[in-house]
Amino acid sequence: MASSSAFFIFILISYYSKKSYGEELNNKKFPKDFMFGAATASYQVEGAWNEDGKGENMWDHITHKVPSPIVNNDTGDVACDSYHKYKEDVAMLKEMGVDFYRFSLSWSRILPSGFDNEVNQLGVEHYRNLIKELRANNITPVVTIYHFDLPQTLQDLGGLQNDFFIDRFVDFARVCFREFGEDVKYWITFNEPWSICNIGYGFGWLNATAASPGIGEYLCSHNLLRAHAKAWRMYDEEFRNDQNGLLGITISGNWFEPSTNSSADIEASETLLQFTFGFYIHPIVHGDYPEVMRKNVDHRSALQGFSQSRLPKFTQDEVQLIQGTTDFLGINMYTSSLVTLEESDDISNISYTADTGVTSWQPEEWESSGSSWLKVYPKGARQLLKWLGTNYKGIKMIITENGYSDNDGELEDDKRISYYQRYLSNIRDAMEFDGVDLFGYTAWSLMDNFEWINGYSQKFGLYQVDFNSPNRTRTPKKSAKWYSKLTRTKCIVDDCTE
Ligand SMILES: *[C@@H]1O[C@H](CO)[C@@H](O)[C@H](O)[C@H]1NC(C)=O
Ligand SMILES: *[C@@H]1O[C@H](CO)[C@@H](O)[C@H](O)[C@H]1NC(C)=O
Ligand SMILES: *[C@@H]1O[C@H](CO)[C@@H](O)[C@H](O)[C@H]1NC(C)=O
Ligand SMILES: *[C@@H]1O[C@H](CO)[C@@H](O)[C@H](O)[C@H]1NC(C)=O
Ligand SMILES: *[C@@H]1O[C@H](CO)[C@@H](O)[C@H](O)[C@H]1NC(C)=O
Repeated sequence: MASSSAFFIFILISYYSKKSYGEELNNKKFPKDFMFGAATASYQVEGAWNEDGKGENMWDHITHKVPSPIVNNDTGDVACDSYHKYKEDVAMLKEMGVDFYRFSLSWSRILPSGFDNEVNQLGVEHYRNLIKELRANNITPVVTIYHFDLPQTLQDLGGLQNDFFIDRFVDFARVCFREFGEDVKYWITFNEPWSICNIGYGFGWLNATAASPGIGEYLCSHNLLRAHAKAWRMYDEEFRNDQNGLLGITISGNWFEPSTNSSADIEASETLLQFTFGFYIHPIVHGDYPEVMRKNVDHRSALQGFSQSRLPKFTQDEVQLIQGTTDFLGINMYTSSLVTLEESDDISNISYTADTGVTSWQPEEWESSGSSWLKVYPKGARQLLKWLGTNYKGIKMIITENGYSDNDGELEDDKRISYYQRYLSNIRDAMEFDGVDLFGYTAWSLMDNFEWINGYSQKFGLYQVDFNSPNRTRTPKKSAKWYSKLTRTKCIVDDCTE
Protein backbone atom coordinates (compact mmCIF):
# COMPACT_ATOMS: atom_id res chain seq x y z
CA MET A 1 0.00 0.00 0.00
CA ALA A 2 1.25 3.47 -0.86
CA SER A 3 2.44 5.48 2.10
CA SER A 4 0.07 8.32 1.22
CA SER A 5 -2.98 6.11 1.77
CA ALA A 6 -1.48 4.71 4.98
CA PHE A 7 -1.14 8.32 6.12
CA PHE A 8 -4.73 9.02 5.10
CA ILE A 9 -5.92 6.09 7.22
CA PHE A 10 -3.87 7.36 10.13
CA ILE A 11 -5.65 10.73 9.89
CA LEU A 12 -9.04 9.03 9.74
CA ILE A 13 -8.29 6.87 12.75
CA SER A 14 -7.12 9.69 14.94
CA TYR A 15 -10.15 11.70 13.85
CA TYR A 16 -12.51 8.90 14.76
CA SER A 17 -10.88 7.93 18.02
CA LYS A 18 -11.49 11.50 19.15
CA LYS A 19 -15.06 10.97 18.11
CA SER A 20 -15.06 7.68 20.00
CA TYR A 21 -15.12 9.53 23.24
CA GLY A 22 -16.87 12.62 21.99
CA GLU A 23 -20.42 13.26 20.99
CA GLU A 24 -20.49 11.66 17.53
CA LEU A 25 -20.77 8.07 18.70
CA ASN A 26 -24.08 6.90 20.10
CA ASN A 27 -23.68 6.76 23.86
CA LYS A 28 -26.90 4.92 24.70
CA LYS A 29 -26.48 1.48 26.21
CA PHE A 30 -27.74 -1.47 24.21
CA PRO A 31 -30.88 -2.93 25.83
CA LYS A 32 -30.38 -5.29 28.80
CA ASP A 33 -31.52 -8.38 26.92
CA PHE A 34 -29.54 -7.54 23.75
CA MET A 35 -27.15 -10.44 23.08
CA PHE A 36 -23.50 -10.08 22.07
CA GLY A 37 -21.65 -13.03 20.57
CA ALA A 38 -18.76 -14.15 18.39
CA ALA A 39 -18.73 -16.44 15.35
CA THR A 40 -16.72 -19.02 13.45
CA ALA A 41 -17.52 -21.67 10.83
CA SER A 42 -16.53 -25.34 10.78
CA TYR A 43 -14.16 -25.45 7.79
CA GLN A 44 -12.48 -22.19 8.80
CA VAL A 45 -11.41 -23.36 12.28
CA GLU A 46 -11.82 -27.09 12.91
CA GLY A 47 -9.01 -28.80 11.01
CA ALA A 48 -8.98 -32.59 11.63
CA TRP A 49 -10.11 -32.83 8.01
CA ASN A 50 -9.78 -36.60 7.77
CA GLU A 51 -9.96 -37.68 11.41
CA ASP A 52 -12.46 -39.84 13.26
CA GLY A 53 -14.40 -40.86 10.19
CA LYS A 54 -15.03 -37.44 8.62
CA GLY A 55 -15.82 -37.52 4.88
CA GLU A 56 -14.34 -35.19 2.25
CA ASN A 57 -16.12 -31.89 1.63
CA MET A 58 -15.81 -29.48 -1.31
CA TRP A 59 -13.25 -27.32 0.51
CA ASP A 60 -11.06 -30.31 1.36
CA HIS A 61 -11.32 -31.20 -2.31
CA ILE A 62 -10.53 -27.80 -3.77
CA THR A 63 -7.69 -26.93 -1.35
CA HIS A 64 -5.94 -30.22 -2.22
CA LYS A 65 -6.00 -29.55 -5.99
CA VAL A 66 -2.66 -28.93 -7.73
CA PRO A 67 -2.35 -26.16 -8.72
CA SER A 68 -4.35 -24.76 -5.84
CA PRO A 69 -6.73 -21.81 -6.31
CA ILE A 70 -6.05 -20.72 -2.70
CA VAL A 71 -3.61 -17.94 -1.72
CA ASN A 72 -0.26 -19.50 -0.67
CA ASN A 73 -1.71 -22.97 -1.33
CA ASP A 74 -3.22 -22.76 2.16
CA THR A 75 -5.64 -25.46 3.34
CA GLY A 76 -7.98 -25.96 6.30
CA ASP A 77 -6.38 -29.35 7.08
CA VAL A 78 -5.39 -28.12 10.54
CA ALA A 79 -6.73 -24.53 10.57
CA CYS A 80 -7.08 -23.42 14.23
CA ASP A 81 -7.25 -27.08 15.30
CA SER A 82 -10.54 -26.31 17.04
CA TYR A 83 -11.64 -29.93 16.67
CA HIS A 84 -9.09 -30.67 19.40
CA LYS A 85 -8.92 -27.26 21.07
CA TYR A 86 -12.62 -26.49 21.46
CA LYS A 87 -12.22 -26.14 25.22
CA GLU A 88 -9.70 -23.35 24.69
CA ASP A 89 -12.17 -21.70 22.31
CA VAL A 90 -14.89 -21.80 24.94
CA ALA A 91 -12.48 -20.41 27.55
CA MET A 92 -11.81 -17.47 25.18
CA LEU A 93 -15.53 -16.88 24.73
CA LYS A 94 -15.96 -17.01 28.48
CA GLU A 95 -13.12 -14.54 28.97
CA MET A 96 -14.87 -12.10 26.61
CA GLY A 97 -18.14 -12.55 28.46
CA VAL A 98 -20.21 -13.22 25.34
CA ASP A 99 -23.82 -14.36 25.59
CA PHE A 100 -23.59 -16.76 22.65
CA TYR A 101 -21.27 -18.55 20.25
CA ARG A 102 -22.25 -18.90 16.61
CA PHE A 103 -20.54 -21.93 15.01
CA SER A 104 -21.43 -24.32 12.19
CA LEU A 105 -21.70 -28.07 11.78
CA SER A 106 -19.52 -29.88 9.29
CA TRP A 107 -21.96 -31.93 7.22
CA SER A 108 -19.36 -34.50 6.14
CA ARG A 109 -18.16 -34.93 9.73
CA ILE A 110 -21.66 -35.96 10.75
CA LEU A 111 -22.72 -37.70 7.52
CA PRO A 112 -19.45 -38.87 5.87
CA SER A 113 -21.17 -39.96 2.64
CA GLY A 114 -23.25 -36.77 2.48
CA PHE A 115 -26.37 -38.95 2.77
CA ASP A 116 -28.07 -40.05 5.99
CA ASN A 117 -27.33 -43.76 5.51
CA GLU A 118 -24.48 -43.53 8.01
CA VAL A 119 -24.25 -41.19 11.01
CA ASN A 120 -20.67 -40.79 12.27
CA GLN A 121 -20.99 -41.06 16.05
CA LEU A 122 -17.53 -39.59 16.69
CA GLY A 123 -18.52 -36.50 14.72
CA VAL A 124 -21.78 -36.19 16.65
CA GLU A 125 -19.83 -36.65 19.89
CA HIS A 126 -17.55 -33.74 19.02
CA TYR A 127 -20.43 -31.29 18.69
CA ARG A 128 -22.13 -32.71 21.79
CA ASN A 129 -18.93 -32.00 23.72
CA LEU A 130 -18.66 -28.48 22.36
CA ILE A 131 -22.30 -27.74 23.21
CA LYS A 132 -21.86 -29.22 26.69
CA GLU A 133 -18.79 -27.07 27.29
CA LEU A 134 -20.70 -23.96 26.17
CA ARG A 135 -23.65 -24.79 28.41
CA ALA A 136 -21.34 -25.38 31.38
CA ASN A 137 -20.04 -21.85 30.82
CA ASN A 138 -23.45 -20.29 30.33
CA ILE A 139 -22.88 -19.52 26.66
CA THR A 140 -25.82 -20.06 24.31
CA PRO A 141 -25.08 -22.05 21.14
CA VAL A 142 -26.29 -20.46 17.88
CA VAL A 143 -25.82 -23.13 15.25
CA THR A 144 -25.47 -22.76 11.48
CA ILE A 145 -26.42 -25.97 9.71
CA TYR A 146 -24.80 -25.12 6.37
CA HIS A 147 -21.79 -22.80 6.13
CA PHE A 148 -20.22 -23.48 2.69
CA ASP A 149 -18.73 -26.96 3.28
CA LEU A 150 -20.86 -29.25 1.11
CA PRO A 151 -19.84 -32.93 1.11
CA GLN A 152 -17.87 -33.56 -2.09
CA THR A 153 -20.15 -36.50 -2.93
CA LEU A 154 -23.07 -34.06 -3.28
CA GLN A 155 -20.98 -31.47 -5.13
CA ASP A 156 -20.05 -34.19 -7.66
CA LEU A 157 -23.77 -34.60 -8.36
CA GLY A 158 -24.15 -30.90 -9.17
CA GLY A 159 -24.41 -29.59 -5.61
CA LEU A 160 -27.11 -27.00 -5.03
CA GLN A 161 -27.86 -26.75 -8.75
CA ASN A 162 -29.44 -30.20 -8.63
CA ASP A 163 -32.84 -30.31 -6.94
CA PHE A 164 -31.97 -33.62 -5.28
CA PHE A 165 -30.15 -31.30 -2.86
CA ILE A 166 -33.43 -30.18 -1.27
CA ASP A 167 -34.23 -33.47 0.43
CA ARG A 168 -30.58 -34.19 1.25
CA PHE A 169 -30.49 -30.92 3.20
CA VAL A 170 -33.72 -31.80 4.99
CA ASP A 171 -32.26 -35.23 5.89
CA PHE A 172 -29.13 -33.61 7.32
CA ALA A 173 -31.13 -30.98 9.23
CA ARG A 174 -33.27 -33.74 10.76
CA VAL A 175 -30.15 -35.51 12.07
CA CYS A 176 -28.96 -32.17 13.54
CA PHE A 177 -32.28 -31.44 15.27
CA ARG A 178 -32.49 -35.01 16.58
CA GLU A 179 -28.91 -35.09 17.91
CA PHE A 180 -28.51 -31.54 19.22
CA GLY A 181 -31.96 -29.97 19.39
CA GLU A 182 -32.41 -30.53 23.13
CA ASP A 183 -29.65 -28.01 23.76
CA VAL A 184 -29.80 -25.76 20.70
CA LYS A 185 -32.54 -23.14 20.58
CA TYR A 186 -31.18 -20.94 17.77
CA TRP A 187 -30.71 -22.54 14.36
CA ILE A 188 -29.60 -20.94 11.10
CA THR A 189 -30.32 -23.07 8.04
CA PHE A 190 -27.98 -21.38 5.56
CA ASN A 191 -25.15 -18.90 5.84
CA GLU A 192 -25.15 -16.36 2.97
CA PRO A 193 -27.28 -17.82 0.17
CA TRP A 194 -26.04 -15.03 -2.12
CA SER A 195 -22.41 -16.12 -1.68
CA ILE A 196 -23.22 -19.83 -1.91
CA CYS A 197 -25.07 -19.37 -5.19
CA ASN A 198 -23.49 -16.38 -6.92
CA ILE A 199 -19.91 -17.01 -5.98
CA GLY A 200 -20.24 -20.78 -5.95
CA TYR A 201 -22.17 -21.39 -9.17
CA GLY A 202 -22.62 -18.06 -10.98
CA PHE A 203 -19.25 -16.34 -10.97
CA GLY A 204 -17.43 -19.60 -10.34
CA TRP A 205 -15.02 -18.20 -7.80
CA LEU A 206 -13.38 -21.55 -7.20
CA ASN A 207 -13.68 -22.97 -10.65
CA ALA A 208 -14.58 -20.65 -13.52
CA THR A 209 -14.69 -23.64 -15.89
CA ALA A 210 -17.54 -25.17 -13.97
CA ALA A 211 -19.49 -21.91 -13.59
CA SER A 212 -22.83 -21.25 -15.26
CA PRO A 213 -23.34 -17.47 -15.13
CA GLY A 214 -26.91 -16.24 -15.36
CA ILE A 215 -28.24 -19.75 -14.76
CA GLY A 216 -26.39 -21.51 -11.93
CA GLU A 217 -27.05 -18.81 -9.33
CA TYR A 218 -30.80 -18.92 -10.00
CA LEU A 219 -31.02 -22.73 -9.95
CA CYS A 220 -29.00 -22.83 -6.75
CA SER A 221 -31.10 -20.17 -5.06
CA HIS A 222 -34.35 -21.81 -6.13
CA ASN A 223 -33.23 -25.09 -4.54
CA LEU A 224 -31.78 -23.40 -1.48
CA LEU A 225 -35.01 -21.54 -0.74
CA ARG A 226 -37.08 -24.70 -1.06
CA ALA A 227 -34.59 -26.61 1.12
CA HIS A 228 -34.74 -23.89 3.78
CA ALA A 229 -38.54 -23.89 3.74
CA LYS A 230 -38.85 -27.69 3.87
CA ALA A 231 -36.41 -27.86 6.79
CA TRP A 232 -38.38 -25.16 8.63
CA ARG A 233 -41.67 -27.02 8.07
CA MET A 234 -40.07 -30.32 9.11
CA TYR A 235 -38.83 -28.70 12.34
CA ASP A 236 -42.32 -27.36 12.89
CA GLU A 237 -43.93 -30.77 12.43
CA GLU A 238 -41.38 -33.04 14.09
CA PHE A 239 -39.46 -31.02 16.69
CA ARG A 240 -40.87 -27.64 17.61
CA ASN A 241 -43.29 -28.89 20.27
CA ASP A 242 -40.56 -30.67 22.21
CA GLN A 243 -37.60 -28.47 21.47
CA ASN A 244 -39.07 -25.00 21.24
CA GLY A 245 -36.25 -23.50 19.23
CA LEU A 246 -36.13 -20.74 16.62
CA LEU A 247 -35.09 -21.32 13.03
CA GLY A 248 -33.76 -18.53 10.83
CA ILE A 249 -31.57 -17.87 7.81
CA THR A 250 -28.55 -15.58 7.41
CA ILE A 251 -28.47 -13.32 4.38
CA SER A 252 -25.61 -11.05 3.35
CA GLY A 253 -24.56 -8.22 1.09
CA ASN A 254 -23.39 -4.65 0.84
CA TRP A 255 -25.40 -1.53 1.44
CA PHE A 256 -25.82 0.03 -2.00
CA GLU A 257 -25.62 3.78 -1.76
CA PRO A 258 -27.02 5.84 -4.70
CA SER A 259 -23.98 7.54 -6.22
CA THR A 260 -26.01 10.75 -6.72
CA ASN A 261 -29.45 11.86 -5.62
CA SER A 262 -30.87 11.40 -9.12
CA SER A 263 -33.99 9.25 -9.25
CA ALA A 264 -32.13 6.85 -11.56
CA ASP A 265 -29.43 6.20 -8.96
CA ILE A 266 -31.99 5.82 -6.20
CA GLU A 267 -33.71 3.24 -8.41
CA ALA A 268 -30.35 1.52 -8.98
CA SER A 269 -29.89 1.21 -5.24
CA GLU A 270 -33.36 -0.25 -4.73
CA THR A 271 -32.88 -2.69 -7.62
CA LEU A 272 -29.56 -4.04 -6.35
CA LEU A 273 -30.87 -4.34 -2.79
CA GLN A 274 -33.74 -6.42 -4.17
CA PHE A 275 -31.37 -8.58 -6.25
CA THR A 276 -29.17 -9.14 -3.17
CA PHE A 277 -31.41 -9.26 -0.09
CA GLY A 278 -34.92 -9.36 -1.58
CA PHE A 279 -33.76 -12.36 -3.67
CA TYR A 280 -33.98 -14.43 -0.46
CA ILE A 281 -36.20 -12.65 2.07
CA HIS A 282 -38.93 -11.65 -0.35
CA PRO A 283 -39.83 -15.29 -1.13
CA ILE A 284 -39.61 -16.23 2.55
CA VAL A 285 -41.96 -13.40 3.53
CA HIS A 286 -44.18 -13.06 0.44
CA GLY A 287 -43.77 -16.44 -1.30
CA ASP A 288 -42.10 -15.15 -4.49
CA TYR A 289 -39.10 -13.31 -5.94
CA PRO A 290 -39.08 -9.49 -5.95
CA GLU A 291 -40.97 -7.96 -8.86
CA VAL A 292 -37.89 -6.25 -10.29
CA MET A 293 -36.04 -9.59 -10.49
CA ARG A 294 -38.98 -11.28 -12.16
CA LYS A 295 -39.26 -8.40 -14.65
CA ASN A 296 -35.57 -8.02 -15.47
CA VAL A 297 -34.64 -11.69 -15.77
CA ASP A 298 -37.81 -12.62 -17.67
CA HIS A 299 -37.24 -9.73 -20.07
CA ARG A 300 -33.60 -10.48 -20.81
CA SER A 301 -34.25 -14.25 -21.02
CA ALA A 302 -36.92 -13.64 -23.67
CA LEU A 303 -34.66 -11.33 -25.69
CA GLN A 304 -31.95 -14.00 -25.50
CA GLY A 305 -34.26 -16.60 -27.02
CA PHE A 306 -34.99 -18.71 -23.92
CA SER A 307 -38.55 -20.05 -24.07
CA GLN A 308 -38.57 -20.00 -20.25
CA SER A 309 -37.08 -17.47 -17.91
CA ARG A 310 -33.65 -18.25 -16.46
CA LEU A 311 -35.21 -17.34 -13.09
CA PRO A 312 -37.33 -20.40 -12.23
CA LYS A 313 -40.94 -20.03 -11.07
CA PHE A 314 -42.41 -21.38 -7.85
CA THR A 315 -45.55 -23.49 -8.22
CA GLN A 316 -48.61 -22.48 -6.19
CA ASP A 317 -47.80 -25.27 -3.72
CA GLU A 318 -44.26 -23.99 -3.38
CA VAL A 319 -45.46 -20.45 -2.72
CA GLN A 320 -47.49 -21.92 0.17
CA LEU A 321 -44.51 -23.98 1.27
CA ILE A 322 -42.06 -21.08 1.40
CA GLN A 323 -44.15 -18.20 2.65
CA GLY A 324 -43.66 -17.44 6.35
CA THR A 325 -40.79 -19.85 7.00
CA THR A 326 -38.52 -17.89 9.26
CA ASP A 327 -38.49 -17.11 12.98
CA PHE A 328 -35.78 -14.48 12.65
CA LEU A 329 -33.48 -13.01 10.07
CA GLY A 330 -29.68 -13.14 10.39
CA ILE A 331 -27.68 -10.42 8.63
CA ASN A 332 -24.00 -10.52 7.70
CA MET A 333 -22.74 -7.05 6.86
CA TYR A 334 -19.30 -5.61 6.36
CA THR A 335 -19.23 -2.93 3.69
CA SER A 336 -21.00 -0.77 1.09
CA SER A 337 -20.79 0.24 -2.56
CA LEU A 338 -21.95 3.15 -4.70
CA VAL A 339 -24.35 2.35 -7.53
CA THR A 340 -25.69 3.76 -10.78
CA LEU A 341 -28.03 2.39 -13.46
CA GLU A 342 -26.20 0.96 -16.44
CA GLU A 343 -28.31 -1.28 -18.58
CA SER A 344 -26.29 -3.63 -20.72
CA ASP A 345 -26.83 -3.16 -24.48
CA ASP A 346 -25.06 -6.44 -25.02
CA ILE A 347 -28.02 -8.78 -24.99
CA SER A 348 -25.76 -11.79 -25.58
CA ASN A 349 -24.30 -11.28 -22.09
CA ILE A 350 -25.97 -13.93 -19.94
CA SER A 351 -25.17 -12.99 -16.35
CA TYR A 352 -26.66 -11.97 -13.05
CA THR A 353 -24.88 -8.61 -13.16
CA ALA A 354 -26.25 -7.85 -16.63
CA ASP A 355 -29.72 -8.86 -15.34
CA THR A 356 -29.51 -6.27 -12.56
CA GLY A 357 -28.78 -3.41 -14.98
CA VAL A 358 -26.78 -1.78 -12.22
CA THR A 359 -23.09 -1.05 -11.83
CA SER A 360 -21.51 -0.83 -8.40
CA TRP A 361 -18.07 0.21 -7.16
CA GLN A 362 -16.20 1.29 -4.06
CA PRO A 363 -14.39 4.64 -4.25
CA GLU A 364 -10.58 4.50 -3.87
CA GLU A 365 -10.72 7.06 -1.09
CA TRP A 366 -12.92 4.98 1.20
CA GLU A 367 -10.95 3.64 4.16
CA SER A 368 -9.47 0.24 3.36
CA SER A 369 -8.94 -2.96 5.39
CA GLY A 370 -6.93 -6.13 4.87
CA SER A 371 -9.49 -7.36 2.28
CA SER A 372 -9.88 -5.63 -1.09
CA TRP A 373 -13.70 -6.02 -0.93
CA LEU A 374 -14.02 -4.58 2.56
CA LYS A 375 -14.05 -0.78 2.59
CA VAL A 376 -15.04 0.80 5.88
CA TYR A 377 -18.32 2.70 5.51
CA PRO A 378 -20.10 2.71 8.91
CA LYS A 379 -23.09 4.79 7.74
CA GLY A 380 -24.06 1.93 5.43
CA ALA A 381 -24.85 -0.26 8.45
CA ARG A 382 -27.64 2.05 9.58
CA GLN A 383 -28.97 2.49 6.05
CA LEU A 384 -29.10 -1.25 5.41
CA LEU A 385 -30.84 -2.02 8.70
CA LYS A 386 -33.31 0.76 8.07
CA TRP A 387 -34.06 -0.62 4.59
CA LEU A 388 -34.55 -4.16 5.92
CA GLY A 389 -36.60 -2.94 8.90
CA THR A 390 -38.88 -0.89 6.65
CA ASN A 391 -39.37 -3.58 4.00
CA TYR A 392 -39.76 -6.53 6.34
CA LYS A 393 -41.55 -5.08 9.33
CA GLY A 394 -42.22 -7.39 12.23
CA ILE A 395 -39.30 -9.76 11.60
CA LYS A 396 -36.82 -9.98 14.46
CA MET A 397 -33.29 -9.47 13.23
CA ILE A 398 -29.84 -10.36 14.49
CA ILE A 399 -26.48 -9.37 13.04
CA THR A 400 -24.80 -12.72 12.58
CA GLU A 401 -21.49 -11.33 11.24
CA ASN A 402 -19.70 -7.99 11.22
CA GLY A 403 -15.98 -7.41 11.45
CA TYR A 404 -12.72 -6.02 10.10
CA SER A 405 -9.67 -7.67 8.56
CA ASP A 406 -5.99 -6.86 8.53
CA ASN A 407 -3.10 -8.82 7.06
CA ASP A 408 -0.66 -9.13 9.93
CA GLY A 409 -2.94 -10.13 12.80
CA GLU A 410 -1.32 -7.55 15.05
CA LEU A 411 -2.25 -7.48 18.74
CA GLU A 412 -2.53 -3.67 18.96
CA ASP A 413 -5.49 -3.63 16.59
CA ASP A 414 -6.87 -0.13 17.14
CA LYS A 415 -8.34 -0.02 13.64
CA ARG A 416 -10.50 -3.04 14.42
CA ILE A 417 -11.75 -1.42 17.62
CA SER A 418 -12.55 1.76 15.73
CA TYR A 419 -14.44 -0.24 13.09
CA TYR A 420 -16.51 -2.02 15.73
CA GLN A 421 -17.26 1.26 17.53
CA ARG A 422 -18.38 3.10 14.44
CA TYR A 423 -20.46 0.24 13.06
CA LEU A 424 -22.08 -0.43 16.43
CA SER A 425 -22.84 3.27 16.83
CA ASN A 426 -24.76 3.21 13.54
CA ILE A 427 -26.47 -0.02 14.53
CA ARG A 428 -27.52 1.56 17.83
CA ASP A 429 -28.83 4.59 15.87
CA ALA A 430 -30.91 2.30 13.65
CA MET A 431 -32.50 0.79 16.76
CA GLU A 432 -33.06 4.13 18.46
CA PHE A 433 -34.16 6.35 15.57
CA ASP A 434 -35.38 4.00 12.82
CA GLY A 435 -37.31 1.49 14.94
CA VAL A 436 -35.20 -1.49 13.81
CA ASP A 437 -36.01 -4.58 15.88
CA LEU A 438 -32.60 -6.11 16.53
CA PHE A 439 -31.95 -8.64 19.30
CA GLY A 440 -28.26 -9.43 18.91
CA TYR A 441 -24.87 -8.76 17.37
CA THR A 442 -22.11 -11.18 16.39
CA ALA A 443 -18.47 -10.25 15.90
CA TRP A 444 -16.68 -12.02 13.06
CA SER A 445 -14.56 -13.63 14.21
CA LEU A 446 -13.62 -15.22 17.50
CA MET A 447 -10.12 -15.82 16.10
CA ASP A 448 -7.99 -15.52 12.97
CA ASN A 449 -8.86 -18.41 10.66
CA PHE A 450 -8.94 -19.84 7.13
CA GLU A 451 -10.49 -17.06 5.04
CA TRP A 452 -11.62 -19.20 2.06
CA ILE A 453 -9.73 -18.42 -1.17
CA ASN A 454 -7.59 -15.92 0.72
CA GLY A 455 -6.22 -18.62 3.00
CA TYR A 456 -4.61 -17.24 6.15
CA SER A 457 -3.62 -13.93 4.51
CA GLN A 458 -6.64 -12.02 5.85
CA LYS A 459 -7.25 -11.96 9.58
CA PHE A 460 -10.55 -11.06 11.23
CA GLY A 461 -9.93 -12.44 14.73
CA LEU A 462 -10.47 -10.92 18.15
CA TYR A 463 -7.85 -13.51 19.10
CA GLN A 464 -4.64 -13.99 17.19
CA VAL A 465 -3.73 -17.55 16.24
CA ASP A 466 -0.11 -18.56 15.67
CA PHE A 467 -0.39 -20.72 12.55
CA ASN A 468 3.34 -21.50 12.70
CA SER A 469 3.02 -23.27 16.03
CA PRO A 470 1.68 -26.81 16.19
CA ASN A 471 -0.18 -25.60 19.29
CA ARG A 472 -2.02 -22.94 17.28
CA THR A 473 -1.50 -20.69 20.28
CA ARG A 474 -4.29 -18.14 20.79
CA THR A 475 -3.55 -14.65 22.14
CA PRO A 476 -6.17 -11.99 22.87
CA LYS A 477 -5.83 -8.82 20.78
CA LYS A 478 -6.61 -5.39 22.17
CA SER A 479 -10.01 -5.71 20.45
CA ALA A 480 -10.82 -8.83 22.51
CA LYS A 481 -10.34 -6.78 25.66
CA TRP A 482 -12.45 -3.98 24.20
CA TYR A 483 -15.17 -6.49 23.28
CA SER A 484 -15.25 -7.91 26.83
CA LYS A 485 -15.90 -4.43 28.13
CA LEU A 486 -18.75 -4.09 25.62
CA THR A 487 -20.36 -7.40 26.55
CA ARG A 488 -20.31 -6.39 30.23
CA THR A 489 -21.36 -2.74 29.93
CA LYS A 490 -23.43 -2.88 26.67
CA CYS A 491 -21.75 0.43 25.96
CA ILE A 492 -19.43 1.31 23.03
CA VAL A 493 -17.92 4.44 24.57
CA ASP A 494 -16.34 5.14 27.97
CA ASP A 495 -19.55 6.22 29.62
CA CYS A 496 -23.08 5.52 28.53
CA THR A 497 -26.46 6.84 29.46
CA GLU A 498 -29.08 4.17 30.03
C1 LIG B 1 1.92 -23.56 -4.61
O1 LIG B 1 2.05 -24.80 -5.24
C2 LIG B 1 2.63 -24.74 -6.55
C3 LIG B 1 2.61 -26.12 -7.12
O2 LIG B 1 1.32 -26.44 -7.47
C4 LIG B 1 4.03 -24.20 -6.45
O3 LIG B 1 4.57 -24.05 -7.74
C5 LIG B 1 4.00 -22.83 -5.76
O4 LIG B 1 5.31 -22.37 -5.56
C6 LIG B 1 3.29 -22.95 -4.43
N1 LIG B 1 3.14 -21.60 -3.87
C7 LIG B 1 3.46 -21.31 -2.62
C8 LIG B 1 3.28 -19.89 -2.19
O5 LIG B 1 3.90 -22.15 -1.84
C1 LIG C 1 -13.30 -27.38 -12.70
O1 LIG C 1 -14.41 -27.85 -13.38
C2 LIG C 1 -14.09 -28.60 -14.52
C3 LIG C 1 -15.38 -28.87 -15.28
O2 LIG C 1 -16.35 -29.43 -14.43
C4 LIG C 1 -13.36 -29.85 -14.08
O3 LIG C 1 -12.98 -30.61 -15.22
C5 LIG C 1 -12.10 -29.45 -13.31
O4 LIG C 1 -11.47 -30.58 -12.77
C6 LIG C 1 -12.47 -28.52 -12.17
N1 LIG C 1 -11.25 -27.97 -11.57
C7 LIG C 1 -11.04 -27.96 -10.25
C8 LIG C 1 -9.80 -27.27 -9.79
O5 LIG C 1 -11.83 -28.47 -9.45
C1 LIG D 1 -28.32 13.59 -1.27
O1 LIG D 1 -29.18 14.39 -0.50
C2 LIG D 1 -28.91 14.36 0.88
C3 LIG D 1 -30.02 15.12 1.62
O2 LIG D 1 -30.47 16.21 0.89
C4 LIG D 1 -27.53 14.93 1.13
O3 LIG D 1 -27.23 14.90 2.51
C5 LIG D 1 -26.51 14.08 0.38
O4 LIG D 1 -25.22 14.60 0.53
C6 LIG D 1 -26.87 14.00 -1.09
N1 LIG D 1 -26.00 13.00 -1.70
C7 LIG D 1 -25.33 13.19 -2.81
C8 LIG D 1 -24.47 12.06 -3.27
O5 LIG D 1 -25.39 14.23 -3.45
C1 LIG E 1 -21.43 -9.13 -18.81
O1 LIG E 1 -21.89 -7.97 -18.14
C2 LIG E 1 -21.29 -7.74 -16.90
C3 LIG E 1 -21.93 -6.51 -16.27
O2 LIG E 1 -22.86 -5.91 -17.06
C4 LIG E 1 -19.81 -7.56 -17.05
O3 LIG E 1 -19.21 -7.39 -15.78
C5 LIG E 1 -19.22 -8.78 -17.72
O4 LIG E 1 -17.84 -8.60 -17.95
C6 LIG E 1 -19.93 -9.05 -19.03
N1 LIG E 1 -19.46 -10.30 -19.57
C7 LIG E 1 -19.13 -10.43 -20.84
C8 LIG E 1 -18.68 -11.80 -21.26
O5 LIG E 1 -19.18 -9.51 -21.64
C1 LIG F 1 2.91 -26.51 22.94
O1 LIG F 1 2.22 -26.83 24.13
C2 LIG F 1 2.91 -27.74 24.95
C3 LIG F 1 2.00 -28.12 26.11
O2 LIG F 1 1.38 -26.99 26.64
C4 LIG F 1 4.21 -27.10 25.41
O3 LIG F 1 4.93 -28.00 26.21
C5 LIG F 1 5.04 -26.74 24.19
O4 LIG F 1 6.20 -26.03 24.57
C6 LIG F 1 4.25 -25.86 23.23
N1 LIG F 1 5.00 -25.70 22.00
C7 LIG F 1 5.10 -24.54 21.37
C8 LIG F 1 5.90 -24.55 20.10
O5 LIG F 1 4.58 -23.51 21.78
